[in-house]
Amino acid sequence: MRKALVIGAAGQIGTELTYRLSEELGTDNVIASDISELYFEDQPNIRTVILDVLDFELLKSTILDNDISEVYHLAATLSANAEKNPGFSWHLNMQSLLNILNLAKEGHISKIFWPSSVAVFGTDTPKENTPQFTLMNPNTVYGISKSAGENWCNYYYEKYGVDVRSLRFPGLLGYKSDPGGGTTDYALWALKNSSNNLPYVSFLSRETTLPMMHMEDAIDGIIQLMNVPNSDIKIRTSYNISSVSFSPTELEKEIQKTIPAFKISYEPDFRQSIADSWPHSIDDSLARNDWNWNPKYNFESLVKNIIEGFKKKVLIVTR
Ligand code: SER
Repeated sequence: MRKALVIGAAGQIGTELTYRLSEELGTDNVIASDISELYFEDQPNIRTVILDVLDFELLKSTILDNDISEVYHLAATLSANAEKNPGFSWHLNMQSLLNILNLAKEGHISKIFWPSSVAVFGTDTPKENTPQFTLMNPNTVYGISKSAGENWCNYYYEKYGVDVRSLRFPGLLGYKSDPGGGTTDYALWALKNSSNNLPYVSFLSRETTLPMMHMEDAIDGIIQLMNVPNSDIKIRTSYNISSVSFSPTELEKEIQKTIPAFKISYEPDFRQSIADSWPHSIDDSLARNDWNWNPKYNFESLVKNIIEGFKKKVLIVTR
């Protein structure tokens, strides 16, 4: 019997993943947790608990008392926010992962999902079609924590046989939840503003190309990866996965196909240097080969779908 605990369930990925897991496993087999109270408007039956993932004893009792078999650990400080509070962000991003890896090592969890990011790459990494295995010199607190986390995952797999699985996400774009302090967030705010007939002031410059993905594809990727037989997973750091790449000016043009009056203006800030250190596009051939990763959205359908979603004003999670 599979029973899932989602940590960081009120966040951008957590919101949509919780809904999807309750469809896959049944609502009774999902527990959604976050640092403060949360509530799923569309499905009030989803069980929610308040959980500070840094509280090892509370984490352990939540897992044992509820017979949790798999943990989706999504709590983290994202790239832009982490630069404002490096010490705490490092502590949260690292210790939370180690707490969960240690509970799996003790035999209390049989499977873990933990997201990594394109932030593991750095200024000297090849920017186009960035390979799975390449030079990685991250220069953000977030990137350093994801890179170290990937190595911890691999270490716990090699040394203790912990079944931990991970994806290096690009910027994730969905209309059901707001982003939480990342560098790729500009694209979602632009899409949201456009669907409210508002202009957008971008904190990244017009030609800054970054890899992006529809949230639905990201969630499909997580579900798919967690269903693959253990022996088919060849990479225990984290898999490159990829979908689309675009710059703010390309996004503006694509949005204008639906909303001709939409305009982006530019006031780059400290997030520009973070974006400048990240890849433009990602080679995800190993994920495609090992477990048939294949995203369904292209640039055009992604933009169209998200604008339509925002126009319907879908409100999902509150806290
Ligand atoms: N979207 C994330 C961020 O910008 C990248 O993992 O921080």
